[in-house]
Amino acid sequence: KKSTGKKPLVISTWDVGINANKAAWKILKTNGRALDAVEAGVMVTEAEKVNCCVGLNAYPDRDGHVTLDASIMDEYGNAGSVAFIERIKHPISVARLVMEKTPHVMLAGSGAQQFAVEQGFPLEPDKLSDEAEKAYQEWLKKSEYKPVINIENTKGQNAFAPAYLNDGLLNHDTIGMIAIDAQGNLSGSCTTSGLAFKMRGRVGDSPIAGAGLFVDNEIGAAVSTGVGEEVMKVCGTHIVVEAMRSGMQPEDACRFAVERIVKRNTAEKIKDIQVAFIAIDK
Ligand code: GLY
Repeated sequence: KKSTGKKPLVISTWDVGINANKAAWKILKTNGRALDAVEAGVMVTEAEKVNCCVGLNAYPDRDGHVTLDASIMDEYGNAGSVAFIERIKHPISVARLVMEKTPHVMLAGSGAQQFAVEQGFPLEPDKLSDEAEKAYQEWLKKSEYKPVINIENTKGQNAFAPAYLNDGLLNHDTIGMIAIDAQGNLSGSCTTSGLAFKMRGRVGDSPIAGAGLFVDNEIGAAVSTGVGEEVMKVCGTHIVVEAMRSGMQPEDACRFAVERIVKRNTAEKIKDIQVAFIAIDK
């Protein structure tokens, strides 16, 4: 779509993003900073009681543990992220502290958890939500060694998932959010439990700057959702922002990045892959 130039503005992935947008909007409409808005926004999704793919109530890896990835970028091009973090309710806030309080961009695994605890985040119980436990027990019956990829059918359900994954559960994956505030500054956030029943230790695109999230305050911001492996292999959000730099409108830039993924896959393989980008320009 052609830019309207209206600001502030916030957008995020999937329908569940609407509640997250509301929380972000409270900050943006009172002239708050985009960075605060994108953190507060996705925290709503991270705290949801029933959620397949974000936060501690999401589906576990194939060993039965929920492991989370998150990243955040501000208007100065600073980035912070956590990968493979466990038992922390708000990985996005830990990612922000990595950005603001450490000389690093990414902390992973037990080191990320240790940093979170040192910063005062409580260590949550190592226990699956009832919904996740149910789905995990079902999955264990076959233990198909294949992460479930989120591809919507016409009912908005995962076309490739066994029925129990769609039963009464919201079907989406990563929440990614990007915003421009009243001052014209951009920020973005991204948080996920990754692919359901993934291999232990698997990390997706969401905590990787330039893959799952990229913000350049001179140009625009982009965030992705879908099969992280495909997004990582092309540095997806970096492509989107660089395409906007070369003059493309946000929607065309997103299409350009998707086409790059399509091009490097066979027609047979691409049928099993869903990836999406959202973007806003300066
Ligand atoms: N896009 C989220 C993931 O692949 O983990």
